[in-house]
Amino acid sequence: MNRLLDQVAIVTGAGSGIGKAVAELFAVQGAAIAAVDVDRSAAETTAEAIVANGGRATAYELDVTNQEEIERVVEQVAERYRTVDVLFNGAAILRVGRLHETDPETWSGVIDVNLTSVYRVSRAVLPLMCAQGRGAIVNVTSSTGATLAGPGIAAYVSSKAGVAMLTRSMAIDYATDGVRVNAIAPDRRTRPCSGNSGLTAAQLEIIRGSIPLAVTGDPGARSRQPRCS
Ligand SMILES: NC(=O)c1ccc[n+]([C@@H]2O[C@H](COP(=O)([O-])OP(=O)(O)OC[C@H]3O[C@@H](n4cnc5c(N)ncnc54)[C@H](O)[C@@H]3O)[C@@H](O)[C@H]2O)c1
Repeated sequence: MNRLLDQVAIVTGAGSGIGKAVAELFAVQGAAIAAVDVDRSAAETTAEAIVANGGRATAYELDVTNQEEIERVVEQVAERYRTVDVLFNGAAILRVGRLHETDPETWSGVIDVNLTSVYRVSRAVLPLMCAQGRGAIVNVTSSTGATLAGPGIAAYVSSKAGVAMLTRSMAIDYATDGVRVNAIAPDRRTRPCSGNSGLTAAQLEIIRGSIPLAVTGDPGARSRQPRCS
């Protein structure tokens, strides 16, 4: 408990899934949360749940592909909470398709939301972190993308491979500024990039079947009971 006491964390993609679970967990650990999402009501729901649980949180509607909006929101967060100590870059979208089935808009959209946003939001918070000589940035790759490919998700895995290398590059570049940069690579959860992936029930079943334990993750779960009997 309280591992993030008095720290300020921006969590993008905080309206759903892994970002929501991270925002709630960071709040339980004592951080004030800027719950950022393109979906305003989802961000508000997360912030309200945190506050109802005794934590501190504010919702921010933000499209992480919009540099101007990002700078405005980071400024607002820094003004409200004094600083930014932690950035969790969780926002992402998943679009299904082999390369020839992926039109240029879809390709650019996935790269923009999943990869370029990490550059954009990090670029807005890094001056604050460097000035205070400390900070932590957590990016999100994937079990597919960081090292593995996957069928029919060319743009997504390419974006995540980019995030993996960008993370290494940032970690090297900001180490002496006191800013740690890491990535997590979650395996598949029940509803990958849930709201907007275009995955059918059959495709979700294929994903489930490809997991040796046949168990998909639940980001909201705090612990899992042993399955052996
Ligand atoms: N779900 C999985 O199985 C899985 C596996 C590996 C990695 N990941 C990664 O974990 C992260 C979270 O995934 P999830 O499954 O919880 O997704 P999710 O769809 O449940 O949540 C993603 C959130 O990002 C928001 N978002 C999308 N576009 C945005 C934009 N332009 N600006 C701001 N917010 C935007 C959405 O509104 C949503 O609330 C992603 O980076 C994803 O690639 C997920």
